[in-house]
Amino acid sequence: MKKNSVFIATSLDGFIADKNGGLDWLQEVPNPENNDMGYADFMQRIDALLMGRKTFETICGFDGPWPYHKPVFVLSNRLPEIPKGYKGKAFLVNGSLTSVLSQINALGHNNLYIDGGITVQSFLKEDLIDELIITTFPILLGGGTPLFSELPERRNFELAGFASFLNAVTQSQYLRKR
Ligand SMILES: NC(=O)c1ccc[n+]([C@@H]2O[C@H](COP(=O)([O-])OP(=O)(O)OC[C@H]3O[C@@H](n4cnc5c(N)ncnc54)[C@H](OP(=O)(O)O)[C@@H]3O)[C@@H](O)[C@H]2O)c1
Repeated sequence: MKKNSVFIATSLDGFIADKNGGLDWLQEVPNPENNDMGYADFMQRIDALLMGRKTFETICGFDGPWPYHKPVFVLSNRLPEIPKGYKGKAFLVNGSLTSVLSQINALGHNNLYIDGGITVQSFLKEDLIDELIITTFPILLGGGTPLFSELPERRNFELAGFASFLNAVTQSQYLRKR
């Protein structure tokens, strides 16, 4: 079984980064015990990540060690190659989404974490997302990088799970109804 999943945090108004591309609003909810809100369990059940170039660059800019223990495939038409220091951890891919998925699936990676706003939107446009796990933070950013955009037609999902964390954050798990 192949599965393409999204695990992403949004503002109440549906942005995944603020107007400056910032993510500091994710740290505004007090989290003294570092509750990971299901992230480690989710990461356990995926085989690889497929992210947009902009998300990759954001992660490369974080302080600290490379955060992933699974292969990361980076979608880009512009990046000539994966920068030094990330080779062997991240791999450049491009072409149609179905051909990119076939290449990654052929390597035995069947459960994929799809990450990045434009990237998730392009997967949704082609109806290639099976699961959405959306963690909503109680803030209106008023603009920024949107999670969703227009689609050619409706897509129905069913609620498969729901949780709340830290008395502030809600998390919904939706599965594509086909
Ligand atoms: N809140 C969260 O949980 C969360 C999670 C992830 C990311 N973010 C934030 O979201 C922002 C990045 O998201 P984003 O929407 O700006 O961009 P993105 O999806 O990360 O990256 C977009 C880029 O990916 C490449 N790409 C996407 N689809 C492609 C396709 N079908 N074929 C070829 N290349 C494709 C293109 O790169 P080229 O231009 O190189 O061709 C495109 O410019 C960052 O600020 C990041 O911090 C937040």
